[in-house]
Amino acid sequence: MSHGSGPAAPPASAPSPAASGVGSAVAASAASIKPTDLRGILKYVPRFQGQIFVLALDGSIVADDNFGNLLVDIAVLRSLGIKVVLVHGIGQQIQELSVLRGVPITNNDGTGVTDAATLDLAVRASARVSHLVLEGLTQNALKAALTNAVRALPVGIIKGVDQQFTGKVERVDRDFITHILDEGIVPIIQPIGFGPDGKSLRINSDLLAAELAEALLATKIIYLTPAPGMEIDGEIRREISIEILRDILRTKPERIAEVVRSKALNAVRAIETGTPRVHIVDGRLLDGLLNEIFSSEGVGSLVYGNDYQQIRRATRRDVRALYSLIRGGVKREELIHRTQQAIEKNIDQFYVFEIDENIIACVTLYFSPGHPTMAELGTLYVLPFYHNRGIGRKMVEYASLRAKEKGATTLVALSTQNFGFFTGVAGFEEADKSILPEARLKTYEESGRNPRVLVKRLDPAPATGTASA
Ligand SMILES: CC(C)(COP(=O)(O)OP(=O)(O)OC[C@H]1O[C@@H](n2cnc3c(N)ncnc32)[C@H](O)[C@@H]1OP(=O)(O)O)[C@@H](O)C(=O)NCCC(=O)NCCS
Repeated sequence: MSHGSGPAAPPASAPSPAASGVGSAVAASAASIKPTDLRGILKYVPRFQGQIFVLALDGSIVADDNFGNLLVDIAVLRSLGIKVVLVHGIGQQIQELSVLRGVPITNNDGTGVTDAATLDLAVRASARVSHLVLEGLTQNALKAALTNAVRALPVGIIKGVDQQFTGKVERVDRDFITHILDEGIVPIIQPIGFGPDGKSLRINSDLLAAELAEALLATKIIYLTPAPGMEIDGEIRREISIEILRDILRTKPERIAEVVRSKALNAVRAIETGTPRVHIVDGRLLDGLLNEIFSSEGVGSLVYGNDYQQIRRATRRDVRALYSLIRGGVKREELIHRTQQAIEKNIDQFYVFEIDENIIACVTLYFSPGHPTMAELGTLYVLPFYHNRGIGRKMVEYASLRAKEKGATTLVALSTQNFGFFTGVAGFEEADKSILPEARLKTYEESGRNPRVLVKRLDPAPATGTASA
C-alpha cells in the first residue's frame, strides 16, 4: 500500500538547505529530486491540490536542526496547491522553561492537570514556539497567521481530580480557518484554546490536530515527531490498520512506544471521525515529509482507516455474483474465462468490493506453490459504471497489503489491455515473463493470450501483530 498514493520517492540523500524565498525553497528541495521523480510527483499534484493536510509538529521538532528543512518542505507543499494547517506542541519548551525559572509543572503535554503556574508557562512557551514557526515561514516567503480559531472548554473533574486549566476542544471555527487557507495563508494553531470567557486553556496538540482534521475535513494528519514511526513491540510498523491499533490500545497500550502512544490514540480518534489517513514521520529526517507524502513506501508510519471497509474476502455464497460480474471482462477478453466451478474451487483467492451488498469489483491473490515471496494479482475487475472512482486502485492497494502480510516481497500481474492502469496508476513496472515461476510460465505460454507481465516490489511486513486475512 502506498503512503502517498504517489510515485517512487525522491532520494533522501542530498541536502536541501534551509532556503529563503519560496522560489528557492522549491528549487532547493527539487535539487535532490531527479527530473523523472519530479515528473512523477507532478502527475499526482491534481490529486492533492486543494486538499487540507494538518501538520502537527512536536515542540522538539520546532527546536530541531532539521526544522529549517521542514519549512522548505512545507513551502513545497504549498506551492503544489496543498492547503497546510500547522499545529504545534510545546512539550520540550515548557520543560525547559520550568527548569529555567525553577517553576515546577503539573504536566507537560496537556493531558493531565494544568495548574495556574503550568498554564502561565504553557502560554509563554507557546508564544515562543509560534513565533519560531512564524519566523521560519516568513523566511520561506509564506504568509501565515496565528489564530484564535479553537474554542475550548475545561476538561473538568476526572476520577475525582480537577484538571484545572486543561481544556478540550469545544468548537473549531471552520469558516475562519477555511477563509485564510483560501487566501493562501498558513494558519498556525497553538496548543492553547480559548474558553467561553475568552481565557486560555491548555490543549494537547495531538488531540488538537485530530479535532482540526475532523472540523476541516482534512485528508491527512501528519504528526512530525522525534521518532522513526509507530513502534509496536520494538518494531516500526510502516502501515497499520485502525482495527489493529485500536485493539492494541484497548488491550495492551504499553506495546506501543511511549513517545508515539498519544499519536496512536489520536490517530484512531481522527480516523474514526472521518480523516482517512494519519502519518507519523520523524521530523528530524531530511526530506522526510516529502518522502512520506510522495513515495510509495514512505519513511514513517501510516495508520489507515475505512479505506478498505467495503472490501472483504469472498465466500462460496458469492460464486454466482462473481461469475456474472466478470462476464463483461471475459467478453472483452480483458479477463480469462472462469467457470463457476473454477471460481468456487479458488474462492479463497478472491476479494470483493461491495456497495449496498452488491459486489461491484473483485481481485484475486495467488501464490504459486513453492514461491512464498511472489504473489500474483489477478481477475481485477471493476464494473464499468464504477470506473474512475479509485476502486481499481484501492483493490490493488488492498491486495498489495494482503500479499505483504502473507510474506510476499513482489506482486505480479498479467494484463492484455489495461497494463496502462498498472504502470500508470497502480505502481507496477513492466517486466520480462521469465520472472514468473516455472509452472506459472508454462500456463502463461499455454494460454496464448500473450499478456504483459507487470511487477511491483513490496516492502516486507513486520512479523508481529499483522491482521489475519
Ligand atoms: C483497469 C480497471 C481495474 C481500473 O479500475 P478503476 O476503478 O476505473 O480504476 P481507478 O478509478 O482506481 O483508476 C482510474 C485511473 O486509471 C486510469 N486507467 C484506467 N484504465 C487505464 C488504462 N488501460 N491505461 C491507462 N490508464 C488507465 C484512468 O485514466 C484513471 O486515471 P486518473 O486517476 O489519472 O484519472 C478497470 O478498468 C477494469 O475493471 N478493467 C477491466 C478488467 C481488466 O482489464 N483488469 C486487469 C487485468 S487483471
